[in-house]
Amino acid sequence: MTPGAPSGTLSGMEPWEPSSFAWRADVTDWEVSSLHAAAFRHDQELEPWAARLHQHSLGWVTARRGDSLVGFCNVVTDGGRHAFLVDTAVHPDHQGSGVGRELVHRAVQECRASPAQWLHVDFEADVGPFYLADGLFRPTAAGIVKL
Ligand SMILES: CC(C)(COP(=O)(O)OP(=O)(O)OC[C@H]1O[C@@H](n2cnc3c(N)ncnc32)[C@H](O)[C@@H]1OP(=O)(O)O)[C@@H](O)C(=O)NCCC(=O)NCCS
Repeated sequence: MTPGAPSGTLSGMEPWEPSSFAWRADVTDWEVSSLHAAAFRHDQELEPWAARLHQHSLGWVTARRGDSLVGFCNVVTDGGRHAFLVDTAVHPDHQGSGVGRELVHRAVQECRASPAQWLHVDFEADVGPFYLADGLFRPTAAGIVKL
């Protein structure tokens, strides 16, 4: 196990520098915009992430290697029973080493300590194994409309 890494989940990461994960830690608009553009492969556009997160989110999980933001996910809520996991992203240079799984597990853990009773996530079929493989989420039918 990498010294300093959370126990039990990051054993595949050597020889990378250990990642540090945090809930509701500070982020800049630039670094989340950059990460999002790299992971979702769209043109970079500076978005007001910091203000948006504080205004609309139950919380968010950051993954850093050194000072670099390499992973992120965001939990928005209706303020009651329901929370929604969105924006899960790991920088392409850091994918496949357990960062994404740890982000999601941290988000679920934090939601369990909140008033929310259900955490929803939807995804394209090809990403299904990422969310469903370890049995944390169970599959449901869901719908979505582009606005
Ligand atoms: C999806 C994503 C967050 C996964 O992050 P990651 O750090 O590469 O994932 P992990 O290394 O923690 O992988 C965990 C498991 O999910 C699987 N997995 C990872 N990415 C996957 C993908 N895109 N499709 C299917 N399975 C995937 C891995 O094979 C691994 O399974 P294993 O333990 O049986 O080998 C990352 O690929 C990403 O940012 N993709 C682009 C943005 C995106 O599609 N986000 C999801 C929006 S719903």
